[in-house]
Formats: sequence, structure tokens, C-alpha cells
Amino acid sequence: MEPVNLTIVYYSATGTVHTLAKAAAEGAEKAGANVRLRKVAETAPAEAINAKEEWAQHIRDTADVDVVSGDDLDWADAALFGTPTRFGNVSSQLKAFIDTLGPLWFHGKLSNKVYSAFTASNTPHGGQESTLLALSNTFYHWGGIIVPPGYTDPIQFQSGNPYGTSHVVGSGPPGDVTLQAARYQARRVVDTAAALKAGRPA
Ligand SMILES: Cc1cc2nc3c(=O)[nH]c(=O)nc-3n(C[C@H](O)[C@H](O)[C@H](O)COP(=O)(O)O)c2cc1C
Repeated sequence: MEPVNLTIVYYSATGTVHTLAKAAAEGAEKAGANVRLRKVAETAPAEAINAKEEWAQHIRDTADVDVVSGDDLDWADAALFGTPTRFGNVSSQLKAFIDTLGPLWFHGKLSNKVYSAFTASNTPHGGQESTLLALSNTFYHWGGIIVPPGYTDPIQFQSGNPYGTSHVVGSGPPGDVTLQAARYQARRVVDTAAALKAGRPA
């Protein structure tokens, strides 16, 4: 069977969600998937970005990451979406990309794929779950197959978020448990997509 094609689409202003996205890419590659790691286009004005050095630095650090296009989702059997929490919701940058996908959705090109999501927030109760659930609304509209990590692996009892890998930025950069959870989530997505792919006519 052909390997699973997985696209990881993320937005990150200061690098946290990018770190989770890279860990997810590692997990997916280890599980045998072809992986496209893609950032969404930045939409914030230069004054806002340049007012925060970590934000400007992160843009420079990730200049070599390709910007996602609709083709990256058309190609994919599965997609993982990553966004920072913004007032308990999805970042506008990721949402702006999602809102370009009407034509693909209309032609049925987003349905029957496996979807899952991850996030970061500043505080433990800052809206990680509401952000992940908000992103899932989109997956429902697409006719996606939502595959959350749940408590399906021992790492989930340590990381503690069944909705999707998440990190509290106020406690420092993502540590080993969170990165393992991101790798595990990606593996679960790839394994599920592989089973579906094997059961479908070519
Ligand atoms: C406009 C804005 C809104 C935010 N809203 C929240 C929030 O509701 N809850 C929270 O805990 N953190 C909030 N944060 C903090 C971000 O979630 C945090 O900086 C982000 O997860 C870091 O991820 P990144 O390094 O990938 O950009 C907000 C940050 C900004 C700039």
C-alpha cells in the first residue's frame, strides 16, 4: 500500500506551536507517512510583529518552511492543524487560510480525511479545549474523520489533554512529555488513516 500522506498545517507567532508541529512531523515520519510541514501565511501588520522581538525572530527562523496551499490538503490523506489559543479560539492567521478552502470543500476534496489538532496557551485554563473544539467545528463541516488522542496511550495520562496535544507556555518551552504526546498523536492519526486507506478501493 502507498504510504499515508499527512499535511501538518500550523500557525505560530513565537515558536511554541512550531515546536509541537515538528514533533508531530517526527512521529508521523516514524509511523511511515509522507509528511508536508506547512505554515500558514502571516497576516499581522509589520508594526505588530516588529514590536515583539520573539515574533520577528520566529519569522526569520522559519523562513524556509513552505507556506501551505490548498494543494497540500488535496494531497493529504490526513491533516494535523496547530494553532495558538487566541482568546480561547483559533488564531486569525490559521482561520484566514481555512477560509480560502471553500472551492476544495465544494468539490468534496476535504471530506473523508483524518483530522486532528494541537494548541498552546499561556495559562492552564486559558482555552486550550475551547480552541481545539472550535477547530473541530470546521472538520465537521468538511466531513472529516476526527481522531483525537483521548487516553489511548500511557503518555496521554501524563500530558492530560484528550482533545489534542497542548502546551502551557507560561511553564516554559514544551518538555519531553508534551513532545512525546505530539509524536503519539501524529502516529495515531497516521495509523488510522492507513487503516482507512487500506480499506478503500484504489
Ligand atoms: C491576541 C492574543 C490572545 C491570546 N489569548 C490567549 C488566551 O485566551 N488564553 C491563553 O492562555 N493565552 C492566550 N494568548 C497567549 C498565546 O496563546 C500564546 O502566546 C501562544 O500559545 C504561544 O504560541 P506560539 O509561541 O506558537 O505563538 C494570547 C495571545 C495573544 C497574542
